[in-house]
Amino acid sequence: MALSISDICILFARKGGRAYDGEPVTQLEHALQTAERAEREDAPPALVAAALLHDLGHLLNDQGDTPTLRGVDDLHQFAALPFLRAIYDEDVLTPIRLHVDAKRYLCATRSDYFDALSIDSKRSLALQGGIFTPDEAAAFINQPFAADAIRVRLWDDAA
Ligand SMILES: [Fe+2]
Ligand SMILES: [Fe+2]
Repeated sequence: MALSISDICILFARKGGRAYDGEPVTQLEHALQTAERAEREDAPPALVAAALLHDLGHLLNDQGDTPTLRGVDDLHQFAALPFLRAIYDEDVLTPIRLHVDAKRYLCATRSDYFDALSIDSKRSLALQGGIFTPDEAAAFINQPFAADAIRVRLWDDAA
């Protein structure tokens, strides 16, 4: 099923009030804060949209509160993509898809990055495949939109 813009608004209105896994913000607040950081850096509209929607998969693939505590990876970076393909191009979809791998990349390439992650983000990292090896990091950064995914990830972490 494809979502329209108004469907996305309804989804945030219905489910956006849920606590963001183990964090003191709601899903909607987290989405808006991430997008606001993108806007503050004058990111192009596609990247602001990616920032806003990067965790929409949590609302579509509803696994209840903090699934990582039960050892569950909800694969939220993929869950929203089929629903968004009708209205967005790869410049929005790929940074969303890669924002989890961007964390794995940043852990591998920035010495202070892992320590600064939230508790849930550290817990989910292991479920998501862990820190990239040097070869995995090199393969990641050579993909189209990898740099955009890293920008989304850094706004995500700060939100
Ligand atoms: Fe996420
Ligand atoms: Fe996020």
